[in-house]
Amino acid sequence: MAQDLIIQAANIEKSYGAGRSAVRVLRGIDLSVRRGEILSIVGPSGAGKSTLLNIVGCLDGFDTGRLSLIGKDVTSFSVENLATFRNLHMGFIFQMHNLLPEFDAVENIIMPLLIRRVRRREAVKKAMPLLERFGLADRAAHKPGELSGGECQRIAMCRAIIGTPEIILADEPTGNLDSQNSVLLINTLLELGRENSATVIIITHNKEIADMTGRTITLVDGRITKDSVN
Ligand SMILES: Nc1ncnc2c1ncn2[C@@H]1O[C@H](COP(=O)(O)OP(=O)(O)OP(=O)(O)O)[C@@H](O)[C@H]1O
Ligand SMILES: [Mg+2]
Repeated sequence: MAQDLIIQAANIEKSYGAGRSAVRVLRGIDLSVRRGEILSIVGPSGAGKSTLLNIVGCLDGFDTGRLSLIGKDVTSFSVENLATFRNLHMGFIFQMHNLLPEFDAVENIIMPLLIRRVRRREAVKKAMPLLERFGLADRAAHKPGELSGGECQRIAMCRAIIGTPEIILADEPTGNLDSQNSVLLINTLLELGRENSATVIIITHNKEIADMTGRTITLVDGRITKDSVN
């Protein structure tokens, strides 16, 4: 049913640059994702995977097409409305975790809640079980510079999930970790996602991780060339 479709992208096109030097990065993307679906995006480097995820995450605009999220057409939302929408409904995990270096682990994690004006004490109370879930309880007061790359990624996952977003988007969230640790981390992320009935999209180059998701789409040269159930 249409209201079960949490993401509906129709004929999304995106180019960088203009005129003869324009690079067509997305060439007509149609993508529907059901509420609670766990989806992976695979494909060669430069295919447009991050571009697509950034568009779905309202971090980047597009040239033509329409995008609906949670039943709302966000195509012509203002920048302010998009920021609020993102804060309330979406969690994003970047390839380079993007933690704020001045703040410790807990402060980074609770940032989305502070933006929603949740009280600090209440926010910290929500962060602690998440830190425990990712085996980081003893790192709560450490700043990103004092944490390993894998630990920073786990903090970024906690930050993406703390606001119980309907949609979680992850761009190669374990890109620089070994395969075994990557699988463990993704497993925890997906578990938490399922507990909250979240819809999760993960970009990955790791076949094992793609196989952990219910559905995989392959992007090649700005087009979806394959859409399969795992
Ligand atoms: N800001 C930009 N300006 C110009 N070109 C860009 C910009 N961002 C991305 N591109 C180009 O768009 C294409 C798609 O980039 P994108 O980052 O979406 O690829 P990707 O599939 O995520 O690749 P990877 O697996 O390496 O992360 C690439 O050719 C890239 O060079
Ligand atoms: Mg990318």
